[in-house]
Amino acid sequence: MPFAHITGTGSAVPERILDNAGLEQIVDTSDEWITRRTGIKERRIAMVDKNETTAALGALAARRAMQMAGVSADQIDTIITGTVSADRIFPSAACMIQKEIEAFNAAAYDISAGCSGFMYALDIANNNIKAGMSKTCLVIGAERLTTLVNWKDRGTCVLLGDGAGAAILQNRAEPGGILSTHIKSDGRYWDLLYSDSGNDPPPELLKGLASVPFHLKMEGNRLFKQAVSSMAGIAETALVQNGLTREDIQLVIPHQANLRIIQAVAEKLKIPMDRFFTNVHKYGNTSSASIPLAMDEANRSSRINHGDIVLLVSFGAGLTWGATLLKWAATNPG
Ligand code: COA
Repeated sequence: MPFAHITGTGSAVPERILDNAGLEQIVDTSDEWITRRTGIKERRIAMVDKNETTAALGALAARRAMQMAGVSADQIDTIITGTVSADRIFPSAACMIQKEIEAFNAAAYDISAGCSGFMYALDIANNNIKAGMSKTCLVIGAERLTTLVNWKDRGTCVLLGDGAGAAILQNRAEPGGILSTHIKSDGRYWDLLYSDSGNDPPPELLKGLASVPFHLKMEGNRLFKQAVSSMAGIAETALVQNGLTREDIQLVIPHQANLRIIQAVAEKLKIPMDRFFTNVHKYGNTSSASIPLAMDEANRSSRINHGDIVLLVSFGAGLTWGATLLKWAATNPG
């Protein structure tokens, strides 16, 4: 049975930075509150006039991953995009990305699994490769969450940001790459985080931002607890299934929702924080994009090295959660 190796990673974020001081001008909040409760200092905001669509960000991240993997567009047989903020209800972001990167030999589709979208997409890609149905798969997480934000709700608008990350998965005979994937959901709690109808235009300071008639609603306290127990639980499952212990893990790349959630997961797993990769201070919660964005940064800054055991672990609306355990093979930074 072939193994699915990650042979390239890429990411892309919008140019515009909105820092906590900028948010203080939009809602009744403070840099001190946001930093203490979430660890977030700034986030990126996609702008319409710069054509920073979900598809454009996803395509840019994809091109960077393809370049690192040395993979041409016509080699890609599958494109799976995890997203909850595709530019249109249909067609899929994946099909729009397919057009941008000219990967016309691929089947392309989206996965909607909240912030676990990339983890669900990895699960499908890994299974397809292992079953011999796919040889080269492009997996993307791309979001423009700021289009779904209620800019009058200080409880949520401070948390979110835009961006994209991508990975090329290829079939290889040598053991390694993805060791296992694990995905779970519990629809009983869908109403802890969802999008509702609404139509408040963004405030003056955010002119030029695309807005759609949906709003994000969240019950932060309950989500926090669910996130910690679900992520820690599924990480333990991944370790047990592979006969590994926490000492075997060189790096954990968790969903970047909130630094306090990550710290609580680290405490529960008894893995020190210096083995957790975080960039939530720069980007906020970018939903499906957060893990591939962090993975690309960790890869390009040599926080992940050949042979490392890496744990990806996510949590999101649905509720959904997931984990992927990897034995990292060296990638060529390109
Ligand atoms: N600035 C200033 N004050 C704020 C604020 C903001 N941006 N947002 C909320 N507050 C206020 C509240 O109104 C409340 O005031 P009160 O005590 O006078 O009523 C106070 O801060 C505490 O609010 P609370 O919601 O209890 O804070 P918290 O410690 O739970 O932190 C979150 C809020 C959202 C940061 C936290 O619950 C969280 O991170 N939850 C998980 C969210 C998440 O990650 N969602 C995505 C999952 S993929």
